[in-house]
Amino acid sequence: MSASLNAAVATATTTAVDPACAEPLAVLGRDVTVPLVTGGEVSYAALDYAASAPALQRVWDDVAAYAPYYGSVHRGAGYLSQLSTDLFEQSRVTVAEFLDCRPTDQVVFTRSTTDSLNLLAAVLPADCQVFVFETEHHASLLPWVDAQVTYLNAPRTPAEAVATLERALADRDPYGPALVCVTGASNVTGELWPVKELAAAAHAHGARIVLDAAQLAPHHPVSVQELDVDWVAFSGHKLYAPFGSGVLAGRADWLQQAQPYLAGGGASRKVARREDGGVDVEWHTTAARHEAGSPNVIGVYSIASACKALTEAGFENLVARERHLIAKVRKGLAEVPAVRILSLFGDDAPRVGVISFVVDGWNSSHFAAALSAEYGIGVRDGLFCAHPLVRTLLGSEPQAQGECGAPEAAPGERSLNAIRVSFGAGTPDEHVERFVRAVKELVADGAKWQYRTEEGRCVPAV
Ligand SMILES: Cc1ncc(COP(=O)(O)O)c(C=O)c1O
Repeated sequence: MSASLNAAVATATTTAVDPACAEPLAVLGRDVTVPLVTGGEVSYAALDYAASAPALQRVWDDVAAYAPYYGSVHRGAGYLSQLSTDLFEQSRVTVAEFLDCRPTDQVVFTRSTTDSLNLLAAVLPADCQVFVFETEHHASLLPWVDAQVTYLNAPRTPAEAVATLERALADRDPYGPALVCVTGASNVTGELWPVKELAAAAHAHGARIVLDAAQLAPHHPVSVQELDVDWVAFSGHKLYAPFGSGVLAGRADWLQQAQPYLAGGGASRKVARREDGGVDVEWHTTAARHEAGSPNVIGVYSIASACKALTEAGFENLVARERHLIAKVRKGLAEVPAVRILSLFGDDAPRVGVISFVVDGWNSSHFAAALSAEYGIGVRDGLFCAHPLVRTLLGSEPQAQGECGAPEAAPGERSLNAIRVSFGAGTPDEHVERFVRAVKELVADGAKWQYRTEEGRCVPAV
């Protein structure tokens, strides 16, 4: 890397991270104001981190410092190509360190967690059995539909999760390959899953395990070696690096025994015409095998930058601060009898800053629209791409959403959708305090504005 880039990146590194972490980490958008339907403007409270977290200022600064030096990677002969290749490959090392990978693991850069899990599904050995809880995000639930997949019922305790998996694995063909897919932290309840225990159960029965860390990695340290998982997947945009890249890291053997996920340049080492007119291809046996095409250098570099920023901020600080925010939100919601928080494992379960709830008598889309339009708070409503789990937690059948003016769930009745508030390293106290106050006011006084349904969603009537 050139001296000036080094200096620029070093400046970005030293200015943006708050090592004490008593304050939130600096993120983009913290000064953005949005209009309220009731008049005036307010600073935007981004409380939808579980969908996409704002970019860390540090990540933005690192990317901006690198951008003038951007060049094609891997085969470019020019100086900037070499510099970019260096940065790209160094990012792999940074991610491997962040995940505490085994020395033999490979880090494959993908587009997202969804892409990573689909890649793993594409390289499963023949006749591989897959075990997945019905509680998973669709990204973990669906890529295996063409394999012999067993969907496990929602457990009500972490111990029940382990026992359910043990029972399912005990019944399987012990000689065939098998894969367990499990989330580290639920995108609906925020609850942590007993990953280490599930990995031990999987391995005891000769199965492998992939950790969906999309919601875990932004909030908690993830150690592949400590958890003893075989693969881990996560997305840059949930890790404060929204530039379109993701990661699949883990054991090389299944990855390297399979055909490339995408065929093309970058994945192939040698290509030659055969005498019979066909083409012989020698594929790479490194991560490049599954990275055909020109890679997203900025996306990859931004992930490495985020990994460094979070590590330097210290996960112990980030976790402590997030616990404080979680306690504030849960305490505030508990003071509103009409609110029911969705949970599989109960109040005492360890969790990240992801909380879903329903409000008696309110259509969730209406409630979320009022939080946005009247308080400048961005949350999410719906089933959060985890339809089986949310329906289990709501106890409701799939149905069309009701009109927003007429609550779909009268007091005491079941809601069909939920509201999710989620936050993380960049969230100031004021955002969660405003959220709690807004929930209390909306429940006590109702919405101040009129809303109508547009394409199935509630929007302010004017
Ligand atoms: C637990 C979990 N897994 C996977 C995904 C999919 O992530 P992406 O959309 O980045 O592929 C999400 C996204 O919300 C998620 O919450």
